[in-house]
Amino acid sequence: MQIPSKKILVTGGCGFIGSALIRNLISKNSHQIINLDKMGYASDKENLECFFRENKKLKERYNFFRLDLLDQKSLKKLIFDQKPNLVIHLAAESHVDKSISNPNAFVLNNIVGTTNLLEVLLEFWNSLKNYKKNNFRFLHVSTDEVFGSLNEEDRFSENSAYRPNSPYSASKAASDHFVRAWYKTFNFPVITTNCSNNFGPWQFPEKLIPVILMNLIKKEKVPIYGNGKNIRDWIFVEDHVEALIKCAFNAKIGEQYCIGGDNEISNYDMAKLICSIMDKKLPWNKPYASLISFVGDRPGHDFRYSIDSSKIKKDLGWSKKYNFEDSLSYTIDWYLKNQNWILNKSREN
Ligand SMILES: NC(=O)c1ccc[n+]([C@@H]2O[C@H](COP(=O)([O-])OP(=O)(O)OC[C@H]3O[C@@H](n4cnc5c(N)ncnc54)[C@H](O)[C@@H]3O)[C@@H](O)[C@H]2O)c1
Repeated sequence: MQIPSKKILVTGGCGFIGSALIRNLISKNSHQIINLDKMGYASDKENLECFFRENKKLKERYNFFRLDLLDQKSLKKLIFDQKPNLVIHLAAESHVDKSISNPNAFVLNNIVGTTNLLEVLLEFWNSLKNYKKNNFRFLHVSTDEVFGSLNEEDRFSENSAYRPNSPYSASKAASDHFVRAWYKTFNFPVITTNCSNNFGPWQFPEKLIPVILMNLIKKEKVPIYGNGKNIRDWIFVEDHVEALIKCAFNAKIGEQYCIGGDNEISNYDMAKLICSIMDKKLPWNKPYASLISFVGDRPGHDFRYSIDSSKIKKDLGWSKKYNFEDSLSYTIDWYLKNQNWILNKSREN
């Protein structure tokens, strides 16, 4: 179905999910895209530039602004100059391990960054009249990690209590609460999503799947935390992006949606699965699984995440399109074709 064209501000658009969202939004409609990113260590302009080299015409509807959400003065100028009618907020520090070594960066970027944006957008939204005011929306992109850790049976849903366990998830939980408060206190038109672990091309090699692949490519030990039994619910990034677009355009204001991939697998089983795929794609003189090595557990490591996505399926007709094995195989092919990218990133980090 064709959706109406908008002027969309994406924050964090040079990150892994933000760049996939922009590639999707700009190729399927005639939206204008404004990408705001501070260009942190996990950002990469190439994830969009290489797409625009193949799709030159599309770049006419794209503008990039290097800007930190902590610089509220410049942020205000950008919003009032550009006048977006949809904001999709992904900018955040996103790595749990970094939040353990430097929690304050997560307080600043994820909490203060979000409230800076909300303050400016509220002022901007209040300056709009009639149709433009009614037509404005803010989509806040969050994580299932805000709900904490599950036992072997339960699932997270929109009714789950917030029980964050890491500085990362605590900072995302705080940002979710501020977004909710803007809706309840100011009637500001928000929608919030909480998604499970994403995978796909261009993910920075600090997250599990690219870390496994980077080490296998280098023929180095693959570190797995604790006993490797921690379970994650994996979703292909393109399925997440489709869900975000459904929420941004079709969800009722004030709603919250959980998004999951229905692919639960332990970290150890994921490592073994990737090793077995690599044995076929890039044969070596030993099984790649011989490189798996258990290391000391992450403090406060959540045991299991699992998402019940029935609300978004029922309300918005979203369902995942990509088969887990096929999208994992596609992702591995991408990393094998872009070995220099992943090796350079691992040197920079
Ligand atoms: N990766 C996942 O599995 C996952 C799952 C659910 C939700 N999320 C959420 O989705 C969003 C994007 O995640 P990602 O994996 O693409 O992360 P990422 O780290 O790849 O990208 C985040 C981007 O945000 C930018 N950014 C951070 N702080 C900023 C600031 N103060 N001002 C401007 N830009 C800033 C960074 O420069 C980076 O380009 C995050 O909010 C994350 O919490 C991620």
